[in-house]
Amino acid sequence: MVNQTKINELIEKRVKAKLGGGEKRIESQHAKGKLTARERIELLLDDDSFEEFDMFVTHRTKSFGLDKQKYLSDGVITGHGTIDGRIVYVFSQDFTVFGGSLSETYALKICKIMDMAMKIGAPVIGLNDSGGARIQEGVRSLAGYAEIFQRNIMASGVIPQISSILGPCAGGAVYSPALTDFTIMTDQTSYMFVTGPKVVETVTGEMVSTEELGGAHIHSTKSGVSHFLAENDEENILLLRKLMSYLPSNNLEDPPIIRCTDPIDRLEDVLNEFIPENPNQPYDMVNVISTITDRGEFMEVHRNYARNIVVGFARFNGRPVGIVANQPKYYAGVLDIEASRKAARFVRFCDAFNIPLVTLVDVPGFLPGTGQEYGGIILHGAKLLFAYGEATVPKVTITLRKSYGGAHDVMSCKQLRGDINYAWPTAEIAVMGAKGAVEVLEGRNINKIDDAEEKREYITQKEDEYTKKFANPYEAAKYGFIDDVIEPRNTRFRIIRALELLANKKEVNPPKKHSNIPL
Ligand code: HXC
Repeated sequence: MVNQTKINELIEKRVKAKLGGGEKRIESQHAKGKLTARERIELLLDDDSFEEFDMFVTHRTKSFGLDKQKYLSDGVITGHGTIDGRIVYVFSQDFTVFGGSLSETYALKICKIMDMAMKIGAPVIGLNDSGGARIQEGVRSLAGYAEIFQRNIMASGVIPQISSILGPCAGGAVYSPALTDFTIMTDQTSYMFVTGPKVVETVTGEMVSTEELGGAHIHSTKSGVSHFLAENDEENILLLRKLMSYLPSNNLEDPPIIRCTDPIDRLEDVLNEFIPENPNQPYDMVNVISTITDRGEFMEVHRNYARNIVVGFARFNGRPVGIVANQPKYYAGVLDIEASRKAARFVRFCDAFNIPLVTLVDVPGFLPGTGQEYGGIILHGAKLLFAYGEATVPKVTITLRKSYGGAHDVMSCKQLRGDINYAWPTAEIAVMGAKGAVEVLEGRNINKIDDAEEKREYITQKEDEYTKKFANPYEAAKYGFIDDVIEPRNTRFRIIRALELLANKKEVNPPKKHSNIPL
């Protein structure tokens, strides 16, 4: 009987803990269109796989009457479970308890699961919905954040770290998600900023709404802070599960290979006709990607940010890869500051987690102009160059059309340790396009011609000559910079064969404390 009384006490405590800040606050959370911290975990993990830690933790603060206000779990639910049978650690901030604000004990709970995740080599997923530092705890809360930041830094490149933003995330609290690998924001209900609209107005006089300052839309289009934009909590968490399916559990594992039912040797005749006659006519690179990947699937990262370059995950014969591709549909696929940063970060992520890189090239060059130069395109472009050159994962590159100048070198060329570099017969690999080349090389001769018609004819003739000589893949193939010129319709098979060949590739960089990538 005594035992049963004690068991009942445990059951009661569990029920109480699961109510978080109480039914009223749960209702208010639902009224905002948000799920509760526990509902989110349930959706994220495989059925019945969640094991909770530290349910009975409460805060230790006595000031501001907080000693009379205690909630089991203290505003954050932590533990582990599985996604598709693979272990992950998770923390989920409970807005119903002190607005999900972070106390010292709350931080310790998060640190505990991060430490465990590092020990066993499992990813950490953070579901964020918090008013930031618990004001009543003062500097102890700030210290708690720093403890988490330090763990984020140590875990970077060792285990995948993913952040979903499902409510407020403000002040220094934004830096934990920023230190993680991917951030997924929910439209309308989540926001991130270092200083809120009121402080912005006081300091700068600028009037701006929460949504305009740090809403999901802004961070998915303008700042690039968010990698994925979800319509609601459910979509956010499903995206998270999908993303995890491409990733290994840690840096010592390979990403999970799944059984592929899509024929590896299917020929796609449509690709033979894909490149337009007119070299300036755009096309959608995403169509090329979905024609060649397993079942046409492509999980695009940063879809609405720096759209002149496309990055994301796909599979070839069941093997996950990271795809980086210039997008002729936006600004002719030119490389600029944002595109360079976006792609560089993605390349480094893939390299850290043993995910091979497939690069599809159609790039007219770097965007010229003072805007770019003053913004430091030299340094940002160098980031992408550095990322490719440093990467030791298998690298397969296909040049579809243009590959000009510095941008040719940057986009995983042979000399940046590209393992297998193919080109379509439509490729144009050269220092610059015909128009620019003729202007430079023939400028003096052109200026000598007075008659406009004659001038036009001369320019056209010289451009044709240049195009014939340089705007093709064979000049590069002649030197072995391109391994083979392939039929476009056979691209899927050639990529799959290249990746199988490279599956056991071993390449190591020289020992060093760390590299000094141009930041
Ligand atoms: C303690 C907090 C809190 C906080 C909210 N609450 N934020 N308690 N510390 N930081 C409590 C509220 O008192 C309230 O309690 C409950 O949570 C819900 O808050 P509401 O204001 O009613 O909710 P809502 O209207 O949805 O507004 C949410 C909010 C707002 C926008 C997050 O609460 C807010 O502005 N909070 C302060 C945010 C902030 O300035 N945080 C510090 C940032 S600086 P009751 O009992 O009434 O339900 C920071 C530094 C980190 O975080 C540094 C790391 C290096």
